[in-house]
Amino acid sequence: MKITGSLLVIFFLVHSSKSQQPHIILIVADDLGWNDVGFHGSNQIPTPNIDALAYNGVILNSHYVQSYSTPTRAALLSGKFPMRLGMQGPSIRAAEKKALPEQKLLPEYLKQVGFETHLVGKWHLGYSRWNETPTFRGFDHHFGFYNSYTSYYDYLSTWTYNDYDYTGFDLRKDGQPAFDEVGKYATDLFTEYCVNTIANRESSKPLFIMLSHLGVHTANKGKPLEAPQETINKFKHIVDANRRTYAAMVSKLDDSLGSIVEALKQKSMLSNTIIVFISDNGAQTVGDFPNWGSNYPLRGMKDTLFEGGIRSVAFIWSPLIVQSARVSTDLIHVTDWLPTLFVAGGGNGDALDPELDGNDVWSSLVYDLPSPRNDILINIDEKTRNAGLRFYNWKLIVGTSQNGTYNDYYGNIVMEDIEEQEYNTSAVYESTTGRIIRNLNYTPLSETDFEPLRKLSTVKCSAAKKNPCDPATGAVCLYDIPNDPCEENDLAKFFPSVVRKMKRALVDFRKGLAPQLEGDIDIENAEPKLFKYTWNPWLNCPEVSCQIP
Ligand SMILES: *[C@@H]1O[C@H](CO)[C@@H](O)[C@H](O)[C@H]1NC(C)=O
Ligand SMILES: *[C@@H]1O[C@H](CO)[C@@H](O)[C@H](O)[C@H]1NC(C)=O
Repeated sequence: MKITGSLLVIFFLVHSSKSQQPHIILIVADDLGWNDVGFHGSNQIPTPNIDALAYNGVILNSHYVQSYSTPTRAALLSGKFPMRLGMQGPSIRAAEKKALPEQKLLPEYLKQVGFETHLVGKWHLGYSRWNETPTFRGFDHHFGFYNSYTSYYDYLSTWTYNDYDYTGFDLRKDGQPAFDEVGKYATDLFTEYCVNTIANRESSKPLFIMLSHLGVHTANKGKPLEAPQETINKFKHIVDANRRTYAAMVSKLDDSLGSIVEALKQKSMLSNTIIVFISDNGAQTVGDFPNWGSNYPLRGMKDTLFEGGIRSVAFIWSPLIVQSARVSTDLIHVTDWLPTLFVAGGGNGDALDPELDGNDVWSSLVYDLPSPRNDILINIDEKTRNAGLRFYNWKLIVGTSQNGTYNDYYGNIVMEDIEEQEYNTSAVYESTTGRIIRNLNYTPLSETDFEPLRKLSTVKCSAAKKNPCDPATGAVCLYDIPNDPCEENDLAKFFPSVVRKMKRALVDFRKGLAPQLEGDIDIENAEPKLFKYTWNPWLNCPEVSCQIP
């Protein structure tokens, strides 16, 4: 009897802890600039839904990602530094024979502990074969696109090879082209899919949605920025027409969070939900696919190892966080989300791959305990010979990307083109998320609590001295990031032993490098017209049908 009793108790504990597993909504914005959310101090583009969640959660002000899309997504889903997987090179292009190598991914870990898993939006980790696509890699469902970008209404993605434009449809529901959805704005469409998934579920399983927005990446060249006209019209104070459209795109992203929080509330799921919001890299202010986003006053932009490329907008919100309403400056890397969300979702940390580079930072987030992370391998690209490392307060950069073309400061000129606006804290308080949060059964912030948090999360360039360093000249640059977030004062010659030590650490990391995967562009075989004008898997077709029904 005794034994049965304790077994029952154990069963009950296991069972009840299972039934309390939280839901996880992981939102990844694309190319969103550091300076393009209200909570980082900009008055230009109001993001009240985002800001209300950020202030009531934990603002992650030292959250690092890779400097562009494919490597960040590889790191996020695998928990490993991309250079261990051969994913440290350029992002995957359409028709490229390259994919994230076989790895146990975050959704697979979460399925193991009972989650229902959805990817909504961008994949960008390869699709030459069906088994490289999301529903073969741990996602029960995928509604979204395979390439780096698609257009916001037509879902056509155009790529130029040998001076010829190849255009294919890129929007799929569980592998099948979703032609019916043409004409709906992407940010709304992906949001609506999430809202319906939440509203119509009958499952008692915990829910994992990775909402990987197209916003605010550019669409095709020629018409790179797209947003509904009525949203653009709200930004008349922005003189530059491109920046105005970009602002509308950011605003739609903000609306998305409001709708999702509302849906979770309606379904009584919100008090047991974790929401993580990150950008995959900094904005691409100028250059090849410019979106007019701003990382200012951070240096550099997407595709550089300066802060503007890799220090991303990020926060976590959840009623499960005990020490919330704070700005964390603890180092956190995109690889940390796999172990952190697995443990938060009820997984046992011992079940994780011991080779992970990510750290479980869940209890640091929940209780504001010291973080286990003191360093971050920013990247090693053995081809461009560009590498970076964070070690405590120090950051070392060697080599450069793009011949150093983007090692400057961008986005401030755009700012000056704007009529001064006030930051409206009551709009944050009265936003959809603001309203819903304060009616939840936990201690909400009052409107006057926002400004001090906002001040803490705003970067001020504080280098006492300026001693510029451009790694494009061959120099090794060393910065003390907490004291010099804008990377203006190179300290390499004052701290040669730190430079030596960090270079040695890079050499050690280099031993674990897998050569970057070579991607051939196989456009003859992948050409959209062979697949009813869609971008479609094109290899191993004798074994698996590549035909579109
Ligand atoms: C960098 O410069 C070299 C030499 O001028 C050139 O061959 C190469 O294409 C450039 N690379 C990029 C990414 O601009
Ligand atoms: C600030 O937001 C509140 C709530 O949405 C609104 O009523 C008020 O008009 C706004 N103030 C300004 C100056 O725009």
